[in-house]
Amino acid sequence: MELQDLLYSQGFGTRRVCVGLVQKGCVRLQTDGLWQTCEDPWLEVDAQPDWPFEVQGQAWRYRERAHLMLHKPAGTECSRKPSAWPSIYTLLPAPLRQRPQKGAVDGVQAVGRLDQDTTGLLLLSDDGQFIHRMASPRHHVPKVYQVHTVDAVTTQQMDKLLAGVVLDDDPQPVRAAACQAHGSHHVALTLTEGKYHQVKRMLAAVGNRVQALHRSSMGELHLPADLLPGQWRWLTNSDLRALGYQP
Ligand code: URA
Repeated sequence: MELQDLLYSQGFGTRRVCVGLVQKGCVRLQTDGLWQTCEDPWLEVDAQPDWPFEVQGQAWRYRERAHLMLHKPAGTECSRKPSAWPSIYTLLPAPLRQRPQKGAVDGVQAVGRLDQDTTGLLLLSDDGQFIHRMASPRHHVPKVYQVHTVDAVTTQQMDKLLAGVVLDDDPQPVRAAACQAHGSHHVALTLTEGKYHQVKRMLAAVGNRVQALHRSSMGELHLPADLLPGQWRWLTNSDLRALGYQP
């Protein structure tokens, strides 16, 4: 692959911009273990997964497809065109927002959405198959929500959440796959579907209210304790396996 193609594929701008970046000496590559500026946009490079390079001093690694996790902070919207709060996409570096998708500059997309005030694990990708697989109700990737409630959670409320509650827009009851009490006002709720405001509506349906909501895991993938609100990181192969995904 030519160096300018590689930069384009990773979201560093249009082909013209990528050629310009190289010609202006903004790109460094490792040759025989030494970092050196490369000014030839048409240099053939053997881009393997994780191949390192630097653009304008920013260290980067080649990835054919982007799979990442973000610790979504409260007060952010999952939309690209948010109505009231900053978009989660502003938390990502520009190349991730610009990775080309079938010709159009489009970037990574969130896998499903969390409400403005919900925090926790959010996956993002430009891999259509991955997004479909993680979001599809057919695949039932279980999601665990830490739910802090306004009123104490009763045993009857927990039983109803497990048995199934009817939400206003659907006669089919929705049920939690698991519901574990962690204190009088805190339950961990596992859901395998992703309906609009599902946790908040389920809690309302059993006569309680959500005070704070945090997604702590998806499948076997847990939000790492050292990934602070607003931070992101690439998913590793073992993270993808924990999600039951084989690229
Ligand atoms: N359920 C909700 O009510 N809100 C979220 O953000 C996620 C699940």
